[in-house]
Amino acid sequence: MGDTVISDTSTLPVHIAIVMDGNGRWAEERNQPRLFGHKAGVKSVRTVVETAREIGIQHLTLYAFSTENWKRPSLEVKGLMSLLDSYLKSEQKTMLKNDIRLQCLGQLNRLPPQVRKTLTRVISATAQCTAMTLNLALSYGSRNEIIRAVREVSGKCMTGELAPDDLNEEILSNHLYTAGQPDPELFIRTGGERRLSNFLLWQVSYAELYFTDVKWPDFGRAELLEAVADFGARQRRFGKTGSQLSQE
Ligand code: FPP
Repeated sequence: MGDTVISDTSTLPVHIAIVMDGNGRWAEERNQPRLFGHKAGVKSVRTVVETAREIGIQHLTLYAFSTENWKRPSLEVKGLMSLLDSYLKSEQKTMLKNDIRLQCLGQLNRLPPQVRKTLTRVISATAQCTAMTLNLALSYGSRNEIIRAVREVSGKCMTGELAPDDLNEEILSNHLYTAGQPDPELFIRTGGERRLSNFLLWQVSYAELYFTDVKWPDFGRAELLEAVADFGARQRRFGKTGSQLSQE
């Protein structure tokens, strides 16, 4: 397949969120253990981060581990944590070179101490980078994130710091893990399922949804460019009519 060319950068999504699904099935198709698929998935992570940065995506969020994923066999969980740790260690330099800031969305306290240590180190080393923010969703669940935000906001109401009537979308957004970042405009899910799976439920309210049967280890540069081109071709109306938009 020829490379899709992004000629109109005004239609680039400012934030892309991806559910990286299909690693396990990709491995099973090759009679390999599931971790083989996750290892191949790390390659796709590298390619997609590099491509997103290159074409000018400002925020990229990858769903690397959900709160539900803790229920997987302990060997798989350990393998994933170890892949994550080595990915972070090996990428710190590249992130700095490419001006990429790392952020983490999720319950950091549930991660193994070694991973937490590496994550904290890379997050602080890249804190001043501005070209792109890479959010890794780790031990992340959207409902849990919303409850956490509601707890914080109601705590502020109890102390009088915030009046309940003043609560609005912006304030709630600013209590989510993604505080200060724009909402995803493009939501991609690989691996053939067409579900949101408790990922960024509040933030994807207006996102364009893009589902592909391609399994994550096969999702590379060309596939990302294709998704971005598909996004660019859609008309986003935000509740208005097409003719209202053409008059703006
Ligand atoms: C879903 O595939 C994928 C995951 C639960 C983990 C994603 C992890 C990686 C891509 C590698 C590590 C991440 C980073 C950021 C270095 P699945 O196992 O549910 O696939 P299946 O639906 O085919 O079983």
